[in-house]
Amino acid sequence: MLLHVVKDYEAMSREAARLVADRLRSKPSLVLGLATGSTPLGVYRELIRMHIEEGLDFSKVTTFNLDEYVGLPPQHEQSYHHFMDEAFFRHVNVDRRYVHIPDGMASDIEGFCDWYEEEIRRHGGIDVQILGIGANGHIAFNEPGSSLGSRTRIKTLTERTIRDNARFFNSAEEVPRYAITMGIGTVMDARELVLLATGVEKAEAVRAAVEGPITAMVPASILQMHRRAYVIVDEAAASRLSCQYVRELTGLPTTEPRLRR
Ligand code: PGA
Repeated sequence: MLLHVVKDYEAMSREAARLVADRLRSKPSLVLGLATGSTPLGVYRELIRMHIEEGLDFSKVTTFNLDEYVGLPPQHEQSYHHFMDEAFFRHVNVDRRYVHIPDGMASDIEGFCDWYEEEIRRHGGIDVQILGIGANGHIAFNEPGSSLGSRTRIKTLTERTIRDNARFFNSAEEVPRYAITMGIGTVMDARELVLLATGVEKAEAVRAAVEGPITAMVPASILQMHRRAYVIVDEAAASRLSCQYVRELTGLPTTEPRLRR
């Protein structure tokens, strides 16, 4: 795990986008794992800027999204299909034939999940996977208690996640109860992971993930076992970390993570 504390949300977004752009320039057919939620929006904005201003080319990229709500059609405003379209895909030259997002409307969910896993394998595995972290330590929809070796499957959202995500819906009742999500094992198979966190609301989850014991009750803590997991967090999200020297290094203009764990 490589921890990098940066000043604020903008710096976090730039840092993550730089890493993705770097990998994309050295491998135009990059297999990119994408995440939804408010955290990665700045990364997408920065990648779009690089596409427009610097010609960053996504035409050969294959993408796999982490998750999707069960029961929301792609055109639903809160579906992750719609989110990805609005936040990223329609602004860059990604080839839609190479885009993969779990199908929340699949009639055979188990069959779909097996196919999704197979499709990731068929593309040679995910090169770089972007991740957010839930306030409860979840990654994708792998809620606390998820098996650390899990693969793509259907999961029940916890009350906490339903509450956290209710802000995007008219009410908590409208938030779907189930989601299809890559498993923790699926995520851990990616060659590089980039976990992002911003704001003090994530500080406890970041502390537990980075400094706590590895436990299924904090799914993100498994990243401690990944050799190329970059954890890029802003000062607020890092505020509960006990390592003083992390904060001393804050804000240094660098693309290299400063602390190796
Ligand atoms: P957020 O969600 O980016 O909207 O905070 C992150 C997550 O729940 O994984």
